[in-house]
Amino acid sequence: MASRKNQLNIFLADLAAMNIKVHNLHWNVTGSKFIIVHKLTEKLYKMFQLQFDEIAELMKMQNEMPLAAMADYLENTTIDEIESRDYSAYEVLQILDGDCDKIMQQAKKIRDEADKKDNFLVANKLEEYLEIYAKHSWMLRAMLQDDDLPIEMEEDEESDDE
Ligand SMILES: [Fe+2]
Repeated sequence: MASRKNQLNIFLADLAAMNIKVHNLHWNVTGSKFIIVHKLTEKLYKMFQLQFDEIAELMKMQNEMPLAAMADYLENTTIDEIESRDYSAYEVLQILDGDCDKIMQQAKKIRDEADKKDNFLVANKLEEYLEIYAKHSWMLRAMLQDDDLPIEMEEDEESDDE
């Protein structure tokens, strides 16, 4: 259990989970904003894939063992999985916005601890990620200002509308 407590392994598991989750949203987004959200999610899953590899390699540089099995990622991630179904663009943005906050919190925790221990390798890398996440978080929040309503609300209000 001791190695499981490693914050970098939890973060690695989150990045692995996000890679799959964002692919789900990339494949299953529907509606008139399909192209823009399809392209945005592609950019995000490529970012998570790259960071996933970078964090594991950063761990190896420090003689730590990165988790490398799906079962271990599932056990350690703080990210909730979602089913494969159609998602409106609005739902996709809401999900991404929530997960972006979670990832930022994790990254900040690791950056702060690394800072205290004078571990500049980890602190600098996470600092770099935090800047990237802050930009994505801003863009997601800006896109959520749309007047589109979540699917559930549309269905409740116009249940017998064709
Ligand atoms: Fe794709």
